[in-house]
Amino acid sequence: MKRISNRILVTGGAGFIGSNFLLGWMKAGGGPAVNLDLLTYAGNAANLASLEGDERYTFVRGDVCDAELVGELLRRFEPRAILHFAAESHVDRSIASPERFIRTNVLGTFTLLEQARVYWATLDEADRTRFRFLHVSTDEVYGTLGPEDAAFSEETAYAPNSPYAASKAGADHLARAYLHTFKLPVVTTNCSNNYGPYQLPEKLIPLTILNALEGKPLPVYGDGKNVRDWLFVEDHCAAIRAVLANGRPGQTYNVGGHSERTNIDVVTAICDLVDEMRPRPNSAPRRGLITYVSDRPGHDRRYAINAKKIQRELGWRPAEAFESGLRKTVRWYLEHGKWVEGARTGAYRDWIEKNYSERAQMLGLATGE
Ligand code: NAD
Ligand code: TYD
Repeated sequence: MKRISNRILVTGGAGFIGSNFLLGWMKAGGGPAVNLDLLTYAGNAANLASLEGDERYTFVRGDVCDAELVGELLRRFEPRAILHFAAESHVDRSIASPERFIRTNVLGTFTLLEQARVYWATLDEADRTRFRFLHVSTDEVYGTLGPEDAAFSEETAYAPNSPYAASKAGADHLARAYLHTFKLPVVTTNCSNNYGPYQLPEKLIPLTILNALEGKPLPVYGDGKNVRDWLFVEDHCAAIRAVLANGRPGQTYNVGGHSERTNIDVVTAICDLVDEMRPRPNSAPRRGLITYVSDRPGHDRRYAINAKKIQRELGWRPAEAFESGLRKTVRWYLEHGKWVEGARTGAYRDWIEKNYSERAQMLGLATGE
């Protein structure tokens, strides 16, 4: 009997984490991969330029909400796994325009699950057992923690607070339901904040690096004391590889960096690194650029991850310390001016203008250059 291929189908592979994953996967000889990505403002084909001409790699521009296309890709490429990264991923954008989040994150995940179920049902028993639907999710589905609360475990009840988190929670519930009802072999990862190369400079770390380099204000929301757990993106990719290889179907795995930091500490550390690597002609410390701006509505105070399960069951733990990972990341952005220029397209500039001029207006600050 004909058996399915060794190929994987990745969605959202032109985004920050997906492209890091694909580059690492190909470098490690991980086998053929198809990348289904709509190339929204968040997707950047340039991230994967080094894979052009690699016969193991196929790019398909398309929407995860397009059932016909997804079904066709599954039938044609017969993947042994789907790795679902595609999403709308920025909390602030989900507050400004939630609808796209519901469409891509909830409807898109549903469409993939449903098409996967139909495809999976056509496989023989050995292939059905081998197949995985790996759903990439976030720690934000768990809501927010007080300073003394225990970190999020896989047993923590869902309590999403932003439209982004709610849409990811909806997707996680659908993934769970497809496992429970249809026995589709789904595994879910819930990871903390990632940082590293190829992250669109609308998220805190790359935005701060580039603004610091260019001598622009460094916007810190609220009092700057919100805490995030930071994980170097390559560690997240390693966790996904481990879950794909040995994760148990039906299980969820929390993934975190054991690196809780306040936002103000992160921003200050970036200032010092940029000062060290690119001293200003007048030697003025970049810390002087820090500007407190109005807070995000419903801003989660603290995230922290208990990653004991993935360490115990799969032997995964983060390899990169936050300080060394941040140094690598700052250096990467300073050395990749062309990439930065390409990433800051019209759609990106429109968002930055909208987000920060509204915040400045709320505080009564002058806007405009
Ligand atoms: P990203 O925003 O950088 O990339 C998302 C990618 O999905 C882009 O390439 C975009 O073009 C693509 N995409 C968007 N809508 C699509 C659609 N309808 N059809 C096909 N492709 C579409 O996101 P990221 O930071 O790389 O995050 C990847 C995944 O990891 C997301 O599911 C996110 O929720 C999750 N996650 C992210 C973080 C983080 O810190 N960035 C942390 C934990 C979990
Ligand atoms: P972000 O990178 O948007 O990730 P998330 O909201 O998913 O955690 O933001 C990280 C933290 O930094 C979050 O607490 C909001 C804060 N933040 C700022 O203080 N200033 C900014 O300009 C941005 C984008 C975020």
